[in-house]
Amino acid sequence: MSEPNITSGQFISNCTADAMDRAAEVLKSGALVAFPTETVYGLGADATNADAVARIYEAKGRPADHPLIVHLADMQDIAEWSDDIPDYAIALARDFWPGPMTLILKRSALAKDFITGGQDTVGLRVPNHSIALALLSSFKKIGGKGVAAPSANRFGHVSPTTAVAVSDELSQYLLDSDLILDGGPSAVGVESTIIDCTSDAPRILRPGAITAEQISQSTGLHLSNSGDEIRVSGALENHYSPEAKVVLDIQPQTGDGFIALAEIETPAGVIRLASPKNNEEFARILYAALRSADQQSLTRVLVAQPQGSDISVAIRDRLLRASRGR
Ligand code: TXA
Ligand code: MG
Repeated sequence: MSEPNITSGQFISNCTADAMDRAAEVLKSGALVAFPTETVYGLGADATNADAVARIYEAKGRPADHPLIVHLADMQDIAEWSDDIPDYAIALARDFWPGPMTLILKRSALAKDFITGGQDTVGLRVPNHSIALALLSSFKKIGGKGVAAPSANRFGHVSPTTAVAVSDELSQYLLDSDLILDGGPSAVGVESTIIDCTSDAPRILRPGAITAEQISQSTGLHLSNSGDEIRVSGALENHYSPEAKVVLDIQPQTGDGFIALAEIETPAGVIRLASPKNNEEFARILYAALRSADQQSLTRVLVAQPQGSDISVAIRDRLLRASRGR
């Protein structure tokens, strides 16, 4: 792993309680704080500050009409951001927060157009990471309502699962007043499951570590597949892409990068990028493996897709989009 190449964005690796109080003040002042979560790293701003949120869009190079997820310290805080919360959403929040799940709810007046992309809904998540939770609690203590944070990568690129990856993606777009908090590699490795909770039954908008089966079990409801089209940038056809071409095939050629479960052998002349032992580990190392393909200037990465109805659903979803290229 390379040392961070910092042009701007101060790197904090000693995330003590005092340091998190200072980081919360940085957010309150309108600057950006990149922080670790269990899924991927986020690029955070005060979710009630239009100028601060505008800087997220600039740093990411993201179209301004794409909505952002608001991160909260406590599940109780959702009542500030939505005044129409169905019972099944409460059941999901109880069962899976803090955790890798985002709920889409009808917004309250607090959720302005610059957060929701002009839609009448808002995305909310309580992440399960000690540093994220410490930051969110410190921010709440000084009057903060929530932290808007997309994945801390340039628009369309692979999400970062380490602080160094955040720095590689964004440091040239950050200012001296911004921070990057280092909390080690993300434990889950793919973005949260996004669940639309605005109709009679929950609907998955983006698969993640919380599976369809877990959602039906928690809510006692069948998942819905229909509804109005909702804008989810992660659902754009091409997304999550490295520079190398991602090919979903199990027969790599000489010089190709290769990602596959450990039980699959590496053909001669092929550059093995990762050999996860199971689907959870596959999710955890996937984005770092795609980044390492670019660091080695590989032209192609072949990926043998993991099978099943667990987190592999999310892995296959991201790989399909990555395979469509930048
Ligand atoms: O795991 C995650 O969800 C990470 C970490 C940092 O929390 N965040 C993340 O954010 O992946 P982002 O912005 O890269 O992807 C969030 C997706 C976007 O595709 C966005 O369009 C969608 O969530 N989204 C946010 N608010 C929404 C809303 N009100 N309705 C529909 N989709 C929404
Ligand atoms: Mg993203």
